[in-house]
Amino acid sequence: MPEKELREKLEAVLDSYQYQREGLLPALKVVQDETGHLDPTCICFLSKRLRIPESTIYGTGTFYSLHTTEKLGRYTVRVCNSIVCHSQSGKELLDYIEKRLSVKPGETTADGLFSLEEAACLGACDRSPVIMVNETTYYRVTPEYFEEIITNLQPESEIADNGGECR
Ligand code: FES
Repeated sequence: MPEKELREKLEAVLDSYQYQREGLLPALKVVQDETGHLDPTCICFLSKRLRIPESTIYGTGTFYSLHTTEKLGRYTVRVCNSIVCHSQSGKELLDYIEKRLSVKPGETTADGLFSLEEAACLGACDRSPVIMVNETTYYRVTPEYFEEIITNLQPESEIADNGGECR
């Protein structure tokens, strides 16, 4: 069973969709945002509330690349690795970010703050290189701009305990 605060958020989402299947994706977004992954206790909760088998929920959830079964950091940095970005300093940018965060793509920093992933074309090739941090897209990113981006994220002290665990 998710914690009270998260349970209430999920109930509010499901209620706004009259507990119909249409509420599943918005609810999964809340789960992903709050816990960093498709938390099993939350999936179990949604399964009961929507009367949808857990396997169906996982199938639906993992269809979308923004949902993961692996627990991600609070911030997921996705670096476009498609051809245009790659040839417009995207490779050097990825190298910089790897060193800056001390992780390789597919890894999460030890403090749980950042996960790094490579992504296919993010649809803004004319403004390459492009990255996303969670759901925000940043264009023409340089190492200096990346520093600015992560500096302006919510301070670590405020997010150390996101209170969103479903245990
Ligand atoms: S190649 Fe990077 S946004 Fe298209």
